[in-house]
Amino acid sequence: MNALEINALSKSFGTQTALDNICLSVPTGSRTVIVGPSGSGKTTLLRMIAGFEFPDAGSLTLNGQTLVDSAHAVPAYQRQIGYVPQDGALFPHMTVADNIGFGLSDTGAARSTRILELMDSVALNANMATRWPHELSGGQQQRVSLARALAQQPRLMLLDEPFSALDTGLRGAMRKMVARLLEGAGVTTILVTHDQGEALSFADQLAVMREGRLVQSGHPMDLYRYPQDEQTARFLGEAVVMPAQIDAGWAHCELGRVQVNSNGFSGTAQIMLRPEQLQVSSTPTDTQGRHAVVTDCDFAGNTCTLTVELSEPAAGRSLLVRSSGMHAPPAGSTVQLSIVGPAHVFEAQ
Ligand SMILES: Nc1ncnc2c1ncn2[C@@H]1O[C@H](COP(=O)(O)OP(=O)(O)OP(=O)(O)O)[C@@H](O)[C@H]1O
Ligand SMILES: [Mg+2]
Repeated sequence: MNALEINALSKSFGTQTALDNICLSVPTGSRTVIVGPSGSGKTTLLRMIAGFEFPDAGSLTLNGQTLVDSAHAVPAYQRQIGYVPQDGALFPHMTVADNIGFGLSDTGAARSTRILELMDSVALNANMATRWPHELSGGQQQRVSLARALAQQPRLMLLDEPFSALDTGLRGAMRKMVARLLEGAGVTTILVTHDQGEALSFADQLAVMREGRLVQSGHPMDLYRYPQDEQTARFLGEAVVMPAQIDAGWAHCELGRVQVNSNGFSGTAQIMLRPEQLQVSSTPTDTQGRHAVVTDCDFAGNTCTLTVELSEPAAGRSLLVRSSGMHAPPAGSTVQLSIVGPAHVFEAQ
C-alpha cells in the first residue's frame, strides 16, 4: 500500500518553475530518498508535503486522505507530518528540552522522561537538555530538530539533508540509527540528500530530480545500474560513457566487443560502464584484449581510481578504472583491461 501519493504537482515562483508535474508513490513504511542538484526543487517538494507551500496544480494524498488539491488544503499542523528542515529551524528562545518537548501533550515527570528518551534516541547527551540552540554545534542542532519531529509520532517523516552538518563517521552512524528508529516505529520517510552514498544506502526507493522534474525513480540498485541518461548516471557515481554500435546483445566500441543489456535494441547508442566493471591486470606478452597505459593513480586507501589511456586502435581515449588499493599498478605501467558484467545502453540519446 502507498502512504503518500504525489499527483502531477506543479509550482512556480514568478518565472522560476520549481516543480514540474511531479508524480511519485511512496509505499507505507518505506524510505524514499530524493536526490538532485541544487535548485532542482527538493526542498519545495518537502515543504509542499509538510503544508508550508501550496501547489499551482496537482494534489497530495496521505493514507487515502487528500492533503491538498485545487479545492482545499489541510493546514500543516493537522497533517501529522514530521518535518526536519534543511537548517534545523530550532526555536532560539527555547532550551533543547523545550524544543524537543514543544508538541508533547505529556506534563511533569512523564514529559521529562519522554524528552530524555528522545534525546537518547538521537545520541544526545542528557546534560544538553538545558542548553540553548546557539550553544550547540550544527550536527547537534540537527539532532534536536530530529528529536522534536520524532516527538510528534508522525505518520510521515520528512528529512531535508538531516546529516549534512555531521562528519563522515558520525554521519554514517546517525544514518543507520535513524533508519532503525524510523523502521522500528513504522514511520514512512522521505529524505533529501546531496550525498550519493547516503542516497544509495538509505533508500528503498530513490527519486532523481532535475530542474523541477522527476527524472527517474526506482530501487537504488536499478538506478545505479540502469540510469535513464548520462546525467543521472554521473549524478549517482562515476561512469565511463562511450559511443557504440549495438547488435544482438553486443556493443562494438573502443573497448572491442562488450556484452550489453540492450533489451533487443540495435543501432548506434552510448554505452556506460561503472569504473568497478573495468579491471586491470599486468600484461602478459601474448594475450588478447585491450591494452592501456596507466596515466594517473588516485589512491584512496581501500580503493584506487586509475586513469588509463587505451592503446591502439583506440589510442588517446582515457577511462576511469577502479582498482583495489592493495594492488594498484603505478602510473606509467602497461595493463590489460577486462570487463565484468554487461554495459548499460542509453537508447534515447
Ligand atoms: N520562496 C521562493 N521564492 C522564489 N523562488 C524560490 C522560492 N523557493 C524556492 N525557489 C526557487 O525554486 C527552485 C527550487 O528551490 P529548492 O529550494 O526547492 O531547491 P533544492 O533542490 O532544495 O536546492 P538545494 O539542494 O540547494 O537545497 C530554485 O530555483 C529556487 O531559487
Ligand atoms: Mg533544499
